[in-house]
Amino acid sequence: MSTATPSTVNGPADADLIAEDMAIVDGVIRERLRSDVALVNQIGHYIIGAGGKRIRPRLLLLFARALGFHGPERHTLAAVVEFIHTATLLHDDVVDESSMRRGRATANEMFGNAASVLVGDFLYSRAFQMMVSVNRMRVLDVLADATNVIAEGEVLQLMNMHDPDLAVDEYLRVIRFKTAKLFEASARLGAVLAEAPAQVEDHCAAYGRALGTAFQLVDDLLDYDGDPRALGKNVGDDLREGKPTLPLLVAMERATDDDRALIRGAIERGEVERLDDIVRIVRQTGAVEATRDVARREARAAADCLRVLPPSPEREALLEYAARSVDRSS
Ligand code: IPE
Ligand code: IPE
Ligand code: MG
Ligand code: MG
Repeated sequence: MSTATPSTVNGPADADLIAEDMAIVDGVIRERLRSDVALVNQIGHYIIGAGGKRIRPRLLLLFARALGFHGPERHTLAAVVEFIHTATLLHDDVVDESSMRRGRATANEMFGNAASVLVGDFLYSRAFQMMVSVNRMRVLDVLADATNVIAEGEVLQLMNMHDPDLAVDEYLRVIRFKTAKLFEASARLGAVLAEAPAQVEDHCAAYGRALGTAFQLVDDLLDYDGDPRALGKNVGDDLREGKPTLPLLVAMERATDDDRALIRGAIERGEVERLDDIVRIVRQTGAVEATRDVARREARAAADCLRVLPPSPEREALLEYAARSVDRSS
């Protein structure tokens, strides 16, 4: 099993600041992945061992440190948010029928859909065992709420599949639920651990929500404009599924009648045969940049929320996260 290394393609903004913390979190993750059931171990280590950027635990640690909390609960909760994230990925790759994740074949490709769903459930429930051990009702409250909203987001998205007339607000609602909610919870938990005043906690949460929204907007544009090697996952998956994401919604608004009809049909039928043409239309209409502009607005809103933190290297790292989220390529 390879050591979990965060992606260095864009370079973590917190390089040395939380390196020690992240090594401890990695140890907690390995320890708590363990099960007497061989297949749980095998799949758990397969996906976790592939690494990932570990953004959510980093956020939690940076907020906890920025607000002066240094207790061991931060490592437990950092591992918890990574477990919840990984569980959603195991489920998401089954739902999306994806075949590549973190530079490897997906777990569903390697071990089948049933095993992926069930090990996803193992990770969710292990995360709940761990969060209970922290013995704080607010922590349970935040994480129970987050996991519930993520599930709603994935179901909402399912309901929106193949709908080329999806309103932009509905699209944004899905990404706030399915992605931004866990970013929000991760940031909020740093403040909860530090027992920060409510107003500070809410600004931390708002940072997470805005950053998570920017992050998913960029994920969606990279599905049309990204490099699979850098991303560690395939591009074009969204179109194959008929997912009406912002790059397509903007492209349809701006395209010629013929090109609009082509995109509409592809969403309705989930066709990738004309992917190259659609990528060209998405780029030529400026839909990639328009999506990035929306992400940039979110990233700026995130950065604004950080005024609530005292100046510190952690605050600087969080500011840099916001800036990098817009131009990331991995
Ligand atoms: C992937 O999240 C799912 C989305 C919310 C787009 P990440 O891009 O954080 O995945 P890893 O953990 O780095 O692989
Ligand atoms: C993010 O959506 C999934 C979750 C938040 C569970 P995507 O389906 O776009 O994520 P990728 O592209 O598969 O990583
Ligand atoms: Mg997916
Ligand atoms: Mg995606």
